[in-house]
Amino acid sequence: MARPVLRTAFCDLVGVEYPVALAGMGPVAGGIVGPVATAELAAAVSNAGGLGVIGGSGYGPERLREEIARVRALTDKPFGVDLLLPANYLGEAADRPPPADPRELVPAEVREGFRAMLAALDVPWLEAPSVSTATRPALRGRGGGMSDAQMEVVIEERVPVFASGLGSPAPWLDRLHANGAVVLSLVGNVKNARRLAGAGVDAIVAQGTEAGGHTGRIGTLPLVTQVIRAVAPLPVVAAGGIGDGRGAAAMLAAGAVGVWCGTAFLVAEEANQPRAQLERILAATEEDTRITRLYSGKTMRNIRNPLIDAWEASGIRALPMGVQGIVIRDVVHSLRAAGRDDLLMNAAGQIAGMLTETRPAAAILAGIVAETVEILTEGLPAAVTARAGNGGHA
Ligand SMILES: Cc1cc2nc3c(=O)[nH]c(=O)nc-3n(C[C@H](O)[C@H](O)[C@H](O)COP(=O)(O)O)c2cc1C
Repeated sequence: MARPVLRTAFCDLVGVEYPVALAGMGPVAGGIVGPVATAELAAAVSNAGGLGVIGGSGYGPERLREEIARVRALTDKPFGVDLLLPANYLGEAADRPPPADPRELVPAEVREGFRAMLAALDVPWLEAPSVSTATRPALRGRGGGMSDAQMEVVIEERVPVFASGLGSPAPWLDRLHANGAVVLSLVGNVKNARRLAGAGVDAIVAQGTEAGGHTGRIGTLPLVTQVIRAVAPLPVVAAGGIGDGRGAAAMLAAGAVGVWCGTAFLVAEEANQPRAQLERILAATEEDTRITRLYSGKTMRNIRNPLIDAWEASGIRALPMGVQGIVIRDVVHSLRAAGRDDLLMNAAGQIAGMLTETRPAAAILAGIVAETVEILTEGLPAAVTARAGNGGHA
């Protein structure tokens, strides 16, 4: 049978058949298995006609280079790399020389709060080994230091599509464009969309609060429609809560040039997900996620668990991203030692409720495309009678 046709300006911009992207999802579950969107998942989506994006944020520079080589070995289609480029990684501590032991950046009352909270959940507090070597590179430079080195790899490797999750790719934009790369930036509000459009990115990914992972406060529909108005004629891709053809068709009707799907691919067979996290997602309803700063210091939508509820109730304050990461490293170590992987981070969005089985990524993509095409070509014309009027004059 002929392949369905679904084409938008996004297809021309990044050189893909279908305007559906795999979001570049980074590590979950405290990074115990690396990013969710590895080369395998990204290549599977690209080979199926979408845009596969590697979630590069948790990789050190050399590991990122290997992952780019791996995706190139698995597909000859365009692919992307996503990185987090937070402007404020350490908060006020960025202005002081890094301490010998990064744990000194964590206020004593925060550490004690965590210790007591874990004790109440029967989890003994254990410090992760070699915290200083593991986190020191993340304590220097812009965006926490790591992103500078990661960006050098993205540029050297001439990655075809670059996506920034948090922050701005502005410092690297000229070099990315000189490589011919297409640069996309995720935003959660109109102000940041305007700022990044002004900086010269090639498209905005407007991500609504329904999304899994780091997320803002504005729902996808009001965000996408207002971002489109704000940055026109720059193309806008819709993200957050899109997991089927109903969502994708709605976003194309709203004026988005494509859709950026994360949670829908968390249950792909190629997704790099720990079993415990996957099973919670398959069992979750649309009510089972909660936004918390617990795991990263920034607002992140997760499958709800008793640790999130306890932390939210405790009043323990969130620290800047890099500093929260230092204390969370010990939390992850303690949870793993106690066999409580169910309390680890499990980022997922509100569409988790519609995910009930694992499938190959190609089948997930084909399902979204086929349903979108069906709605646009048959469903809508059959269900809606619409004809432009002539202003009331006969
Ligand atoms: C497990 C998980 C990890 C994520 N990690 C990242 C990341 O590292 N960088 C990024 O830009 N976005 C990340 N996101 C957000 C996605 O890019 C995307 O915007 C979001 O998943 C879209 O909403 P949806 O989950 O409803 O499909 C992540 C999302 C999830 C679910």
